Amino acid sequence: MIGQIHADGLRKLAEDGEVVTVGAADPSEASRTATAHNCSFEYLTDDPTQVIEDPGIDAVMITSPTSTHRDLVLATLESGKALFCEKPLAPSFAEVRELCDAVAMTARPAQVGFHSRFHPIFNRIQRLVESAELGVPMAYTLRDDQYWPTGAVVPGHSSWRSDRAQAGGGALLEHSIHAADIVCWMFGPAVRVSASTRSVFGYDVEDVATVLVEHASGVVGTILSVFNGVRGREERRFEVFFENAAVEATTDFIVGATEDSFLVQRPDAAPERPDLAALREDHFAELGLPRRDFVFYTYPADRHWVHCVNDDKPGAPGFDAALRAHELVDAAYRSASTGVTVSA
Ligand SMILES: NC(=O)c1ccc[n+]([C@@H]2O[C@H](COP(=O)([O-])OP(=O)(O)OC[C@H]3O[C@@H](n4cnc5c(N)ncnc54)[C@H](O)[C@@H]3O)[C@@H](O)[C@H]2O)c1
Repeated sequence: MIGQIHADGLRKLAEDGEVVTVGAADPSEASRTATAHNCSFEYLTDDPTQVIEDPGIDAVMITSPTSTHRDLVLATLESGKALFCEKPLAPSFAEVRELCDAVAMTARPAQVGFHSRFHPIFNRIQRLVESAELGVPMAYTLRDDQYWPTGAVVPGHSSWRSDRAQAGGGALLEHSIHAADIVCWMFGPAVRVSASTRSVFGYDVEDVATVLVEHASGVVGTILSVFNGVRGREERRFEVFFENAAVEATTDFIVGATEDSFLVQRPDAAPERPDLAALREDHFAELGLPRRDFVFYTYPADRHWVHCVNDDKPGAPGFDAALRAHELVDAAYRSASTGVTVSA
């Protein structure tokens, strides 16, 4: 799924002369055919090592299931190439740490697939936090919900996400790692976490998680993460309470989604609802995007990574950011299994 979206982004970057798409690997012939439809690569192969070891390739993008990331990331680092890896980095926190340590030992650009970082609404909220123009942030609540992304719920979908051995966790790790990244990006690292999880659909990973987070900055917040049977609705609602304002946002992963909303309520004033098209355009212009014909925020993320590779700059968000998000999620799982508040 996400590999096809990245392939489309790479095609656009190739059309604009920003990248040359050399090789793509997938053991599934159907996936290779779909990839070829979205982007023209010089060759397709069923063997990822062929791509990773190809001396004509500078950078490797890893978009395969989570359980395969570790070996592919380590092989890419071994080859000295720059890399992009989708989130979550790995099913277990021990592997995540191993990958983050390995990346920290290299000087090559490495970026993680936290595409919400390229969303105009999240960027605006992050600036409100950074500028302190609304006072200091006090608290937040973030709700993530999405259809259960597995074949028994969504016919035709791959099913590794409902198997703990392959996914490592459910809604919280697989989806709300984005939420963990957003709140650590805005409010700094988490220090104490209390959580509970449920598995309503009966898989061996959770489809409901509630997490109470305390950040080192003093900000406190809650994350609610749900995988259910509902398709076609917005996937994230974020409310942030500052000393002098309340901010509410709803976002989807599609650019210009009808679900997008943004409201800033200051003292003694009518709610301010910034024009979303203008907000989006300002953000894309600031990023210097040469086109607007993209559907997902993966395109600006991919372009940012390609520029980091070409300019030999660290990718962002990088593995250091991913480690903070994974620390929060790992603490939540430890709290849910022990029933006590834990240090992150
Ligand atoms: N950033 C995001 O918003 C986002 C969205 C969706 C998925 N993801 C992440 O991307 C990854 C892939 O998810 P998906 O939904 O695209 O999965 P998917 O099951 O739809 O597709 C995975 C593809 O990888 C192929 N594959 C399996 N093993 C491989 C290997 N060793 N080397 C190369 N290809 C291999 C499969 O044949 C399949 O074509 C996961 O880690 C997932 O969590 C991130």
